[in-house]
Amino acid sequence: MAELLPGAPVTSLHALGPAEDLAAYQARGGYQALRSAQDTSPDQIITTVREAGLTGRGGAGFPAAAKWEAARACPGPRYLVVNAAEGEPGSYKDRHQLARAPHQVLEGTLIAARATGAAEVIVYINSEFAAAHDALATAIGELDAAGLAATLPPIRLLLENHVYIAGEETALLAVLMGRPAWPWPKPPYPTERGYNDQPTVVNNVETLAHVPLILRRGPDWYRQHQPVLFSVTGDVARPGVFELPLGIPVRDLIAQAGGPLPGDQVAAVLPGGYSLPWLRADQLHLAMEPEALKAAGTGLGASVIVVGAQQGPGLAAARIAAFFARETCQTCPICVTGTARLAQLLRPGADRNLTPAESQEITELAGEHRGKGICTLLDSAATVALASAPHLVGDEQTAAPVA
Ligand SMILES: Cc1cc2nc3c(=O)[nH]c(=O)nc-3n(C[C@H](O)[C@H](O)[C@H](O)COP(=O)(O)O)c2cc1C
Ligand code: SF4
Repeated sequence: MAELLPGAPVTSLHALGPAEDLAAYQARGGYQALRSAQDTSPDQIITTVREAGLTGRGGAGFPAAAKWEAARACPGPRYLVVNAAEGEPGSYKDRHQLARAPHQVLEGTLIAARATGAAEVIVYINSEFAAAHDALATAIGELDAAGLAATLPPIRLLLENHVYIAGEETALLAVLMGRPAWPWPKPPYPTERGYNDQPTVVNNVETLAHVPLILRRGPDWYRQHQPVLFSVTGDVARPGVFELPLGIPVRDLIAQAGGPLPGDQVAAVLPGGYSLPWLRADQLHLAMEPEALKAAGTGLGASVIVVGAQQGPGLAAARIAAFFARETCQTCPICVTGTARLAQLLRPGADRNLTPAESQEITELAGEHRGKGICTLLDSAATVALASAPHLVGDEQTAAPVA
């Protein structure tokens, strides 16, 4: 499968690989979808994307078509913002997508711009991803030189010094408007009032890379063969970014990443990165797709993190809790105190097992804090702490070898 990433669909984390140029992208069907989109009504493009069931790959899994339609229903000028912030530890897929297949992201972005009627496209890129920025800038230049950009909206690339919270869409828009990276309470949603108070669609890089595929191969093909970029890190022998079909069992995904470290076993898996509940070692048969993961109380997110028995869930939980306590933007007092207390309860060096009183306090904190922040960072901190607590009670740790 090489629908999203050209060439080898498996890569190590830090070797981004060469960018695919315009000729190579066109040789695998690139820009056919944009050409056909230019002869298709925006409503029809949105219908096709809806039929394919494309959901956002930035973490929230929101249907792309619904977002585009909501913005289109508001009077313009409208904006399309590409979110290449990717600040969550363990997530590498977006920088790989941009650095290796910039034209695919560009084509998807231009189709989305047509569907939403965007007057301008703004690409927010984390300043750590200079290679991704340069690949995209070169791709735009190639499109211009080939005379293919004449009727397209202007595209502005912004390389921003990044803090994690700026990946949240309203904080990102605040940064684009020259303000501090503080989320705002929704409503108003960006699709109603976003950049410069105008209707704005914010989409993740990978979400947009799927769009040319949908138009080129059709929604039926897409629903059956949907590829996903899985960023697999943690206690695995070969961490990397893997293009694999939606629905691959967790166990097989870990095997693709080389399996557990030598002599280690899987103790837990975070299938939705830092923001969603953990899977136990006896749940590795589950399919990596939204319904199966939802039934298990979790979901897909920006990355997949494997926790080995040698590291143990305690250290992983401590690391995540400390991350959220450090990254709160401090706008909501309850987020400042809540993330700090969770980090204290789960701190490294604390007894590996939580006392029943600590476990009870985490349960109460999670219940009281969920939904109380302006953004969902506080929810994520509470959810992950709550989900990790059962892994930290008592002596027994279930661990599973992965074939
Ligand atoms: C704290 C926080 C950080 C986020 N960071 C990112 C990010 O780095 N990249 C991203 O695409 N979405 C991130 N999101 C989600 C965005 O707010 C938004 O939902 C997403 O960009 C929408 O794109 P999609 O619908 O294509 O997934 C973050 C959300 C939160 C609450
Ligand atoms: S919940 Fe936390 S990160 Fe989100 S806006 Fe409030 S203080 Fe900032």
